[in-house]
Amino acid sequence: MPLSEQDQWKKAAAEAAAKLVEDGMVIGLGTGSTAAHFVAAVGRRMLEEHLRITAIPTSEQTASQARSVKIPLITFAECGQIDLSVDGADEVEAGTIYLIKGHGGALLREKIVAAASKRMVIVADETKIVERLGSLVSVPVELVRFGWQATARRLEELGGHPSLRLGTDQNPYVTDGGNYIVDCAFGPMSKPKETAHHLDHVVGAVEHGLFLGYARQAIIGGRNGVKKIERAEN
Ligand code: A5P
Repeated sequence: MPLSEQDQWKKAAAEAAAKLVEDGMVIGLGTGSTAAHFVAAVGRRMLEEHLRITAIPTSEQTASQARSVKIPLITFAECGQIDLSVDGADEVEAGTIYLIKGHGGALLREKIVAAASKRMVIVADETKIVERLGSLVSVPVELVRFGWQATARRLEELGGHPSLRLGTDQNPYVTDGGNYIVDCAFGPMSKPKETAHHLDHVVGAVEHGLFLGYARQAIIGGRNGVKKIERAEN
């Protein structure tokens, strides 16, 4: 099936990011449709250029794709630090490269991988760029199942208007970690660090989809080709 225009932008960004991969690196593999283009491109480079890399995936879905293109997977028991992780995002704040992630349900493993990476590069298409986080999408928050309603009430008090994510079968969506996700509609955020700080301290919330300070660079595909945007240093 031919790729949609947006998918072509994602693919172009992912292929540009695949060029950053060097022989011997440990790579963090993101989750989602843009990250899937990256995994495919890395698999091709390994085959064509005999690159030897190892990788840590951020979801079972990505692990399965990586195995299918013969990218050797390792665990944190076998490596201390990841050289480069490449992942998608649901929103990218221009200037800060702050992100909202987790609409693919993998935010917990994605944040663990991001935190363990020397360098994190985001691949996305231009529709994801925003002036303020929360303009287009809600903030996913992963909750342990026990007492999730009480945890969701706390998120309501924080102004998150949480709604429990459902799977295609209309049952609660369950993450790779066995938890639930509630999507919190905070709206455009003027102080995302403050919101992240509050979310960091909600008992029962395992992790949230505000990724602030992890990525320094985003590779963005769009109608005028691929461009790289860097975090403005202050
Ligand atoms: C996965 O949990 C998310 O963080 C993804 O990175 C995000 O949803 C981007 O997905 P697409 O690349 O499919 O737009």
